[in-house]
Amino acid sequence: TWTMGAFRERAIARIREQVGTGRVICGLSGGVDSSVAAVLIHEAIGEQLTCVFVDHGLMRQGEADEVVSLFRGHYNIPLVHVDAADLFIGALEGIEDPEQKRKTIGKLFIDVFEAEAKKVGGADFLAQGTLYPDVIESVSFAGGPSVTIKSHHNVGGLPARMNMKLVEPLRDLFKDEVRALGRELGLPETFVGRHPFPGPGLAIRCPGGITREKLEILRKADAIYLEEIRYAGLYDVIWQAFAVILPVRTVGVMGDGRTYDHVLALRAVTSVDGMTADFYPFDMGFLGRVATRIINEVKGVNRVVYDVTSKPPGTIEWE
Ligand code: XMP
Repeated sequence: TWTMGAFRERAIARIREQVGTGRVICGLSGGVDSSVAAVLIHEAIGEQLTCVFVDHGLMRQGEADEVVSLFRGHYNIPLVHVDAADLFIGALEGIEDPEQKRKTIGKLFIDVFEAEAKKVGGADFLAQGTLYPDVIESVSFAGGPSVTIKSHHNVGGLPARMNMKLVEPLRDLFKDEVRALGRELGLPETFVGRHPFPGPGLAIRCPGGITREKLEILRKADAIYLEEIRYAGLYDVIWQAFAVILPVRTVGVMGDGRTYDHVLALRAVTSVDGMTADFYPFDMGFLGRVATRIINEVKGVNRVVYDVTSKPPGTIEWE
């Protein structure tokens, strides 16, 4: 019978067979997929693996620190942590087009990653946390013709450029199976159960151009929203929940003054694999509480709306 324990053993054997005595480099994104892939590969080949975490400054509150302490502290896996926030945020300045943003981030990521890989002496293999749905979605969308809906952020151009072969031990798995494998490998539940987070990070949750101010608003609002979701016992029921900061300001009133601030959209969906999704039907009392907290606690926001679009026709992220 098929168990995660058996999968783990087989995957480890396969990695050893593929890699031999070669060197592997793995880019960590802070997400579950790349983390599980890295821990699995480390179990298979130990010191032959180097992990590189390119911190693009587009992560959520506290996320970068969590990754660093998980790998260095909990697993004792050597990790190169590159703080590239200024570089990424500078490059994104003034870019409003979603695909342009994704491509800018993807390209810069590859540049930074390649430079770091060279610093540690290069590698023969590049490890990625590619999942089965990633394989499918890059080929076709919802069974339809082959169209690119969004350029996915991964280290796509790297293997050829650096003459590396790919190690993708999660290619046959769905998200829930990756989580089960993560538990099997001893990753903490808070980490394994985390909602997915896109490679381009908060940049694609700032339609109309990112600024440091908008990123800060998103971090604070997101933290409040997720705290309330956890408190209501809904975190594990929901596939993904996040805030989007809109490129419009609206008029409001606070105390006896006029405000003219940003609108924040909240999104929450249920899904099995991210390929289709339903918006989550929160009760209005819950949404009202979250809106009040965000407006009171996050400077720069005076209006909150809720997104009731499913996928299709909407995608999960707004860009
Ligand atoms: P969409 O917005 O296409 O998202 O419905 C489906 C799922 O994929 C995540 N997503 C990404 N993940 N790199 C990633 O690793 C990306 O470029 C990317 N874009 C979207 C999204 O958060 C959702 O879970």
